[in-house]
Amino acid sequence: MNIVSTIKEVRDAVAAWRKEGLTVGLVPTMGFLHEGHQSLIQKAVEENDRVVVSVFVNPTQFGPNEDFEAYPRDLDKDAALCESTGAHLIFHPEPEEMYPDGFCSYINMTELTGALCGKTRPIHFKGVCTVVGKLFNIVTPDKAYFGEKDAQQLAVIRRMVKDLNFGLTIVGCPIIREEDGLAKSSRNTYLNADERKAALVLSKAIFHGKEMVENGEKCADKILNEMKAIINAEPLARIDYVEMVNMDTMDNIDTVAGTTLCAMAVYIGKTRLIDNFIVEM
Ligand code: PAJ
Repeated sequence: MNIVSTIKEVRDAVAAWRKEGLTVGLVPTMGFLHEGHQSLIQKAVEENDRVVVSVFVNPTQFGPNEDFEAYPRDLDKDAALCESTGAHLIFHPEPEEMYPDGFCSYINMTELTGALCGKTRPIHFKGVCTVVGKLFNIVTPDKAYFGEKDAQQLAVIRRMVKDLNFGLTIVGCPIIREEDGLAKSSRNTYLNADERKAALVLSKAIFHGKEMVENGEKCADKILNEMKAIINAEPLARIDYVEMVNMDTMDNIDTVAGTTLCAMAVYIGKTRLIDNFIVEM
């Protein structure tokens, strides 16, 4: 496995693979990899001849008061995980490689991105779409892998690929959780012992909501109110949002129907965590 930092090195590696007729999978990440990321890499290794993992904490998707500087980084550990999972190349650029002086072209989606996380993170998806679009152009993969953990991001990327005719397949992968239910996240590392315990209210509420739907409840408000009550019972938790939307449009729904996303963002102390479930009706 190679680790490269320039766009040219990625293009050269991919060109050599293409000459041999090999297929290429891409797993975009911000590093500090855990079993959630690993499940994406694993799937990519199963489905492609060669796998590129990008490790890049993308500055353009962080707001001015967000955790860009504090975001955890550990390239050596990431490289070990990628190598043991069977990836072939890590692309680890510096911000200047991706955003050289004079950079001024962004991908700005006008639908889907104002809902849920977009309400409190207004520039987030513009940064995500721009960096992912750049990665698609740099790597030109056959398939790219994204987690349902970031369900709105997955929906946004799918729409971007459709709207802008990126010729690749997006593969969505299920949420990987800790044994006690907490969705794995690089940001879990910010939690102290008390907060780690308190963070369980997210998955507790998710499992409860999902069970209500499975038992036939279709009224979004009823489900959301019970989920919110579980979270509000925890003093360290503060709800950013808990909502039910159509998975393709991100529009709020009153009644569970079609592909429904129930998503939440909750502050545990200063740490903002997200979780969700998706149901097909
Ligand atoms: P990051 O948060 O590092 O996540 C990289 C990918 O791993 C995303 O597709 C995310 O949904 C997936 N992932 C994270 N935790 C997961 C879990 N517990 N189970 C399953 N999948 C999980 O998402 C980003 O980076 C960035 O926005 C990026 C797309 C790389 C653009 O900068």
